[in-house]
Amino acid sequence: MAPTLRLRLTLVVHPVCVAPLLALLLAIYQNDLGPDPANELAVRTGEWALRFLILSLCVTPIRKIFDLHPVAPLRRTFGLYSFFYAALHVCVYVIFLLQFRWAEVFEDVSERPYITVGFVSFCILLVLALTSPKSVVKRLGRRWVDVHASVYAAALLALLHLFWIVRASIAESAFYAIILLPVLGYRIWLRFFKLGQR
Ligand code: HEM
Repeated sequence: MAPTLRLRLTLVVHPVCVAPLLALLLAIYQNDLGPDPANELAVRTGEWALRFLILSLCVTPIRKIFDLHPVAPLRRTFGLYSFFYAALHVCVYVIFLLQFRWAEVFEDVSERPYITVGFVSFCILLVLALTSPKSVVKRLGRRWVDVHASVYAAALLALLHLFWIVRASIAESAFYAIILLPVLGYRIWLRFFKLGQR
């Protein structure tokens, strides 16, 4: 990518990705998180984790369909921000919702299906974040592509996590599904149809 274009994208994208964190910190400072601040924090961080995850998956279809190669690095950027917000989300859950009651954390992960799928999704995001530095990409070679294909599983599990939360609105879950499913369909089409044509 031309350095100026890369710089311009960086200048726009990073502030946009950090803005939800600043909004969250401001809401904490102003004591503006409603009657259940811990749950509100969990909901907001979870929503941003999912939004950035879906955004990262939209990058490749946009790049291929509109021939917009300069956007390619945004896939990694959005993916890492998704992991960042997901890590905050898990910290809020452990620190504020369960207050380090580790026995309850383990019980939740093993017995509450929506937590189990959220946990698996988070583990996948963790592996993807750990294997994202360029040195690791080089070392893994072709296997890196296979490892990073699991991002689709992470997104589907995060969506299932959201659908399973009784308090979450169906309209909101459906909105994310409507974006995610065509992106997933495009990926499957590329993988099987395009490869079949080669
Ligand atoms: C160990 C992993 C995880 C745990 C323990 C966890 C736990 C929770 C909890 C306790 C809530 C609040 C539920 C409620 O309002 O009753 C929540 C909401 C949410 N989580 Fe997670 N989560 C995990 C992973 C993830 C991941 C990886 C994502 C996305 C990438 C995610 C996305 C969401 C979203 C979008 C909501 C908001 C639901 C709403 O709008 O009400 N979670 N999660």
